Amino acid sequence: MSQRAFLQEVVTRDGFQSLDRFIATDDKVALIDELGRTGLAKIEATSFVSPKAIPNLADADEVMRRITRVEGVEYAVLVPNLRGLDRALPHRPHEVNFAMSASATHNRMNLRMTREESFAQLGEVVRGAAGTGVRVQVSLSTSFGCPVEGRVPEEVVFDWVARFVQLGVDGITLADTTGMANPLQVGGMTVRYLAQPGVPPLTLHFHNTRGMGLANVCAGLAAGARRFDASLGGLGGCPYAPGASGNICTEDTALMLREMGWDTGVDLRALLAASRRLPTLVGKEMPGQVAKAGLTEDLHPEK
Ligand code: COA
Ligand code: ZN
Repeated sequence: MSQRAFLQEVVTRDGFQSLDRFIATDDKVALIDELGRTGLAKIEATSFVSPKAIPNLADADEVMRRITRVEGVEYAVLVPNLRGLDRALPHRPHEVNFAMSASATHNRMNLRMTREESFAQLGEVVRGAAGTGVRVQVSLSTSFGCPVEGRVPEEVVFDWVARFVQLGVDGITLADTTGMANPLQVGGMTVRYLAQPGVPPLTLHFHNTRGMGLANVCAGLAAGARRFDASLGGLGGCPYAPGASGNICTEDTALMLREMGWDTGVDLRALLAASRRLPTLVGKEMPGQVAKAGLTEDLHPEK
């Protein structure tokens, strides 16, 4: 029996947040519903952030009200503070994904807070979510490098991990916000993470900014990581991180995992159908490759 790996879709959050066009709420709802039927483990549907900071996701309440949840799929939403949790809770997501950064500068640029202020908000979010059945994930942006500060010392990342564990978060994501991670670093940090006592499940979040996205997935897998964020078509990027570009592409990742014998539970044909409609929806070509090349079983006639 093949081993399970978990794909967590972020296109309607990480993908849509920095587009220069607003995607109609109807289209967001339709895409989330379609993705819910493709076998993905989790969908990060939207963000409860300041609509001034991220105008494209200003319709988060309506999106969460209107989507049709599919049994077995977990629905998550991003929050930056207690206000975000308060807005999210009435919608009963499975999870709130709290964002803060390993580097002081990106935290300030993205969230207008010091890391300590963000951590204090995280404490409020953990306390506010306690007893509600809503899990708290924390995503540590710039864990593998910061576009402004450069290298982020591993010690800094693991100091934050220790503080998150002490707070009792339900999951931790190490995020490579602008594609600065390399496979050696990912392997080393994954091993180190999984060796810490009492750590909650790890998610790895990669952007393919420098072409190392899928190599980083392989390194993470080899080191024991099983959960990966990915974005349909490879769309994505943080508007408050200079040089940010697309996430690793969900269908490219799913195909690679399948070819390597991993069970993701994903229906690749259904995912491809959704991905091939994205260029029309967002008005630009997608970086993903499998949607263009086809699956490995899509053979060509002899000429
Ligand atoms: N949801 C909706 N509105 C919010 C909010 C939330 N979670 N948190 C704050 N606001 C509102 C405030 O009510 C205030 O509104 P007003 O100007 O109409 O009075 C405004 O946003 C500013 O609030 P303030 O507390 O002063 O925040 P800020 O301007 O310092 O911004 C954040 C802080 C965290 C709210 C903002 O930087 C943010 O939402 N960042 C998210 C960025 C993001 O999503 N990046 C990509 C994903 S990692
Ligand atoms: Zn991202």
